[in-house]
Amino acid sequence: MDVEKIKNKAMSLAGEMTRLRRYLHENPELSWQEVETSRLIASKLRELGFADVRTGVGGQPVGVVADLAGDATGPCVALRADIDALAITEESDVPYRSCKPGAMHACGHDGHTTMLLAVAEILSEMREQLPGQVRFIFQPAEEHGYRSGAQGMIDDGVLEGVSAIAGMHLWSDLPSGKVQWRAGPLMASSDAWKIIFKGKGGHGAMPHLAIDSTVAAAGFIFALQTLVSREIDPLETVVASVGKLESGHVVNVIPESAEIVGNIRTFNRAVRDSVEERFRRIAEGVGATYRCDVEIHYDGIYPWPVINDVDLTHLFRDTAARLVGEENLQEAPPRMTSEDFSFYQTKVPGCFFFLGSGNEEKKSTIPHHSPHFNIDDDVLPAGAALMASFACAMLERYGRRT
Ligand code: NI
Repeated sequence: MDVEKIKNKAMSLAGEMTRLRRYLHENPELSWQEVETSRLIASKLRELGFADVRTGVGGQPVGVVADLAGDATGPCVALRADIDALAITEESDVPYRSCKPGAMHACGHDGHTTMLLAVAEILSEMREQLPGQVRFIFQPAEEHGYRSGAQGMIDDGVLEGVSAIAGMHLWSDLPSGKVQWRAGPLMASSDAWKIIFKGKGGHGAMPHLAIDSTVAAAGFIFALQTLVSREIDPLETVVASVGKLESGHVVNVIPESAEIVGNIRTFNRAVRDSVEERFRRIAEGVGATYRCDVEIHYDGIYPWPVINDVDLTHLFRDTAARLVGEENLQEAPPRMTSEDFSFYQTKVPGCFFFLGSGNEEKKSTIPHHSPHFNIDDDVLPAGAALMASFACAMLERYGRRT
């Protein structure tokens, strides 16, 4: 692999990448609505000479998959970018701010899309020397939560014949150009839940004639924390948070029902499964204690944590060191945020990593999902070079194994 050639080619695409990233930023599309974004990706890939560009995931006109075929006897590795925007109205004053109220690329997926298209361009020029195939996965709906795009992609067979997969996230609280890697657990699973305690409404002066659902809800909120502190091995990580509590409206009425919603995250699938059972037992127990009926909804949004394959991650680390230098590499701390890249990792070895895009002067250190979020476009060539080099390194590694 010629690292210098990849680096130089990526740098030569810098201006084009900035233009494309800003165009995507200006024209965001929400999860499962990425129709124009998908069309643009597909047409760029066709321009680059990709013969078989597949569009549409699970019957919807979004998502794009294309293979770059080098040596047909070699292995196939996949690179994945997410392409969707968030339901946020942009509040920044950049000239390329979102033209759509209620939709904004506030997580950097516009940058991910741009970088993966640049990787396609870089590697398509090296097609003859590629010791295998590279599959490009442009995935919709990473942010959707309840029906995220990764599962649909997998159901459509994008991992068939794939030996390994890589994904990347720009990160605003990491300085521009720094690269973070981590072998093993990197990001948490994420479950969403909703509980409705149903009691009997009544006069605030006569609680004995009512069944107070709000007291049950309050009891549950405290009991939930003992699930974490008293039932789970303290060496395991679990966080349980309440996002909403809604019951009555006025001072002198005991409300009929109380609704609570929240989120539970862990790093271990077995712990995650045990949490769901415990959660249901506690909710039902609290309901019985306070004489309320209980309705429980428990959804695994991202039921698996992001767990990086150890060998593959070391290969990434070595590849990144050659590109950005040891001084720009850091071991990432595990993060309790989630990513549906984890779905792919349940099928094939995967490596997910972070590229810093935080620069105070460019106002790109604002947290992800903020209406003022922005990225430092100058890191895009480094990200594309990293992905392209890692794809080559993976092909070499898996080629030797077969
Ligand atoms: Ni994101």
